[in-house]
Amino acid sequence: MFFVAKKHYFCAMDKNKTYQLLAKQVESLIEGENNTTGQLANAAAIIHETMGWWWTGFYLVNDGDLHLGPFQGPVACYTIKPGRGVCGTAWQQNRTIVVPDVEQFPGHIACSSLSRSEIVVPLHDPQGNVIGVLDIDSKDVATFDDVDARWLEEIARIISQHAFK
Ligand code: SME
Repeated sequence: MFFVAKKHYFCAMDKNKTYQLLAKQVESLIEGENNTTGQLANAAAIIHETMGWWWTGFYLVNDGDLHLGPFQGPVACYTIKPGRGVCGTAWQQNRTIVVPDVEQFPGHIACSSLSRSEIVVPLHDPQGNVIGVLDIDSKDVATFDDVDARWLEEIARIISQHAFK
């Protein structure tokens, strides 16, 4: 299996290595800080820069909705209701959602018409409640698979642990 990051092709083994290094970089960037906005901003920046995706960022639970948090990429919608779009569905169902083709996902919210595939991973507080989501969009169809889901869940766990203590 091959995937594109920063316009280079990698085999599946390289992809695991890339994520292994990325997970370590995310942790060393945000551990020991007490600035949730800054930690999320730096996490979005290193993920986005390393992987070369179209949009990488966070929506955070507040007052019963998801609200736009730190991100990298084009401008995005501010508020998402529970159960709406990929983000609201991942939040409501408390599970990672991989969307190979956003046009096939009923209710997908198109913040950018150029997004073609998407992955959304929940973030949890220490009690296991969903406190937000990590949302990533690609300009290509079928960018994300089980390897991405597994590693982005690990990265989301690291972010939750250090940014929402
Ligand atoms: N596509 C998302 C909305 C957020 S943007 O992708 C940045 C959704 O359907 O929930």
